[in-house]
Amino acid sequence: MSLPLEGKVALVTGASRGLGRADALTLAQAGADVVVTDILIEEDENLEETTQQLGPMAQIMAQAKTVYTRSTADEIRAMGRRSAVFRMDVTDREEVRSVMAKVKEQFGRIDILVNNAATLDHTARLEHQNDEFWERDLRVNLTGAYNCCKAVWPYMKEQKWGRIINMASVAGTLGGYGQASYSTTKAGILGLTRSLALEGARYNITVNAIVPGIINTEAFQLTNPDMRERMIARTAFKRPGEPEDIAHAIAFLASEKAKYITGIALPVAGGIDLFTF
Ligand SMILES: NC(=O)c1ccc[n+]([C@@H]2O[C@H](COP(=O)([O-])OP(=O)(O)OC[C@H]3O[C@@H](n4cnc5c(N)ncnc54)[C@H](O)[C@@H]3O)[C@@H](O)[C@H]2O)c1
Repeated sequence: MSLPLEGKVALVTGASRGLGRADALTLAQAGADVVVTDILIEEDENLEETTQQLGPMAQIMAQAKTVYTRSTADEIRAMGRRSAVFRMDVTDREEVRSVMAKVKEQFGRIDILVNNAATLDHTARLEHQNDEFWERDLRVNLTGAYNCCKAVWPYMKEQKWGRIINMASVAGTLGGYGQASYSTTKAGILGLTRSLALEGARYNITVNAIVPGIINTEAFQLTNPDMRERMIARTAFKRPGEPEDIAHAIAFLASEKAKYITGIALPVAGGIDLFTF
């Protein structure tokens, strides 16, 4: 079996479910040791308080027990890889720095960072945009990724090897009706990606973004059924992507084979961005 990421240590943010969880499992299948982080952890005594602060999506997921942070790490260990779980709120700079330092201490290195954590539950036309959610979306989706890049950078620089993969969205490249805050953060992710790609090259750190279209995660299943059908109809395949479609692209960008690829925004979008009629 080919294990292109053997000996590498990866950290995934927002890995309690959905794409983050799939990324963590796929990186482990490719041979990496994987640190699973999220602001939500099953059986956390503060779970209810945290979900209240996070917003409606987190509350629904916690009530439905769709929190798999620890169990994802258990699955990774069952594959024979090392794993660890950390509660890490990407908006909390001190917590991010401290988690990265603990990972470096326990695992010896941090090679791959997947900035996946995000909020996807704020949809409203401009006149109804909630100012607090606007701030929250910027803080989590954009500043959160910046915080994690900044905290991991010294370790990657010292190793002279690093892979950062940021999650953007077609909402960031195409815009999204009722998605002013979300699409702004995802467009911002592309600027962050390109600037850090330029800065990272001299240290052998590549920085790339994935631009997913619509992917069949628990979060996607929560969207309005009519809207879901309309989005699916826009894809060339007439179906949503699977989480593994994203995870395999990430595993490739994290590998040695992708060593000359940096600063790109890779669509994994089933042709949703193609002109169709
Ligand atoms: N699913 C899609 O169709 C789709 C499309 C385009 C882009 N994306 C992007 O892919 C990523 C994952 O999407 P998903 O569908 O799995 O969403 P999701 O809502 O299921 O997962 C987001 C994760 O981030 C975590 N999170 C939220 N706030 C956090 C914080 N402050 N600190 C740490 N973790 C936090 C959540 O607990 C959750 O585990 C996101 O960046 C999203 O914008 C998804």
